[in-house]
Amino acid sequence: MRVVSGIQPTGNLHLGNYLGAIRNWVRMQDSLGLDGQCLFFLADLHAISMPHDPAQLRRATREMAAAVLACGIDPARSVLFNQAQVPHHAELQWLLGGTARMGWLSRMTQWKDKAGKNREGQSVALFTYPVLQAADVLLYQATHVPVGEDQKQHLELARDIAQKFNNDFAAEGAPVFTLPEPIIPPAAARIMSLRDGAAKMSKSDPSDMSRINLTDDADTIMRKVKKAKTDADPLPEEPAGLAQRPEALNLVTIYAALADRAADDVLREFAGQGFGSFKPALGDLLVATLAPISARLRDLLDDQGALDQILADGARRAREIAHPTLDATYEALGLLRTAS
Ligand code: TYM
Repeated sequence: MRVVSGIQPTGNLHLGNYLGAIRNWVRMQDSLGLDGQCLFFLADLHAISMPHDPAQLRRATREMAAAVLACGIDPARSVLFNQAQVPHHAELQWLLGGTARMGWLSRMTQWKDKAGKNREGQSVALFTYPVLQAADVLLYQATHVPVGEDQKQHLELARDIAQKFNNDFAAEGAPVFTLPEPIIPPAAARIMSLRDGAAKMSKSDPSDMSRINLTDDADTIMRKVKKAKTDADPLPEEPAGLAQRPEALNLVTIYAALADRAADDVLREFAGQGFGSFKPALGDLLVATLAPISARLRDLLDDQGALDQILADGARRAREIAHPTLDATYEALGLLRTAS
């Protein structure tokens, strides 16, 4: 098994990233032992597809690395790095560019959402973003990719690219790329905004009240939970009773995911109670889960030299693992490279 996943170093790590992805990274790392290998990276090359401030990107890359470590990624067991230190990602992206199709990329919902009506004004990188994402996982022959629901379409595209490349350029019959399998948590695949049950919790939401950041202190968490949009009805006995209540469903989903319990089980405990009693219980659970993470995060940020060393070591190991697949891709495409 080879587990590979990434996160963009833009803004703070929030509860959606944690429950939808990072917690699963840690669980996969912890359960894999010697039966496989995990590679996790900061997708800094993806972050330049949108307007950005260079100093802020550099800072956010270190902060996101610290956040991932604080959540439990152990650099002795997982390879942790940022894309910019492994040029193989950008190289493979170009090599896959002859295989990916304009039509496939035009159908990506993230492209459509981010570009909106102004497609002509977007960066080329925003359009080709999913080809880089395909390169990220194909480069390491990833078998499993833990992500939230919103990344499913990008991974399907990665499989399509791998499949077409293998069909068109199989090296003497042997496929060059492994088809990666997305691993999406059944319970917390899509954590929604605290202000709008129809929008996903996101770093790009202008309202900080819409999300819980892993760096929020206890008072901020409690305030955000108390202000979270809900309705006046008491909680039902079964999840079916939440079908038309997206905000209530979201809070119950968050509670269940944090407590590692099924939503039915949580509702059995809180059925008939209103949000006046559910919200403080949810706030307590959030604080208890996030306080140790943010304490570790603060310690990690105090030692920038150690963080940089972890990323440099991770990048060195990633380059070694990436090397054979990149060579095989050049070879399969018939690109002549004479030994120097
Ligand atoms: P990014 O940085 O937006 O998010 C990182 C991870 O968090 C998940 N996630 C969520 N899960 C549940 N509920 C939410 N509200 C929520 N918001 C975010 C995402 O699904 C993701 O797993 N393009 C990717 C980064 C990337 C990548 C890759 C991922 C680049 N290359 C290769 C996997 C494999 C992104 O922008 O994720």
